[in-house]
Amino acid sequence: PKQRTLAVIKPDTMEEHRENILEEIRGGGFSVTQLKETVLSRQMAEEFYKELREKPFFSQLVEFMCRGPCTILVLTKENAVEEWRSMMGPTDPNHAKATSPSSLRARFGSDILHNAVHGASSEQQADEKIHFIFGDIGSDAKLTSD
Ligand code: CMP
Repeated sequence: PKQRTLAVIKPDTMEEHRENILEEIRGGGFSVTQLKETVLSRQMAEEFYKELREKPFFSQLVEFMCRGPCTILVLTKENAVEEWRSMMGPTDPNHAKATSPSSLRARFGSDILHNAVHGASSEQQADEKIHFIFGDIGSDAKLTSD
């Protein structure tokens, strides 16, 4: 069965690599069922990453995610959550360069904070974040994606 995930093209890659990344996504067999380009408010970014509130890098992360436009996507494919995580590669681009050089983070990320792309870590988290970003439109996509 098809699954949905939430993906984000982060502000560090928007200007130079947005088109490349969208091409890879489509080439990887994902359907883009929702797409929104937006500058996140501080409040939205804090809510989006609320699970990381206690981390020492939280304020840097929020600052970074608000500094310019992001592209936020709902991707649909079989096993989409895992497939997208594998296409992204490990969180730290330096680690990614060593272990999965063809991954998006290896190719487009700069450091562990400025790591090019985000993906939900579970199906449940994907559903929650899709609803947070896309509201009821996101839920409609679920009905029409199977
Ligand atoms: P992401 O997959 O969006 O999930 C949380 C983000 O926090 C992560 O990608 C990075 O942008 C950032 N991050 C994770 N670990 C660190 C760290 N140790 N130092 C700075 N930023 C981090």
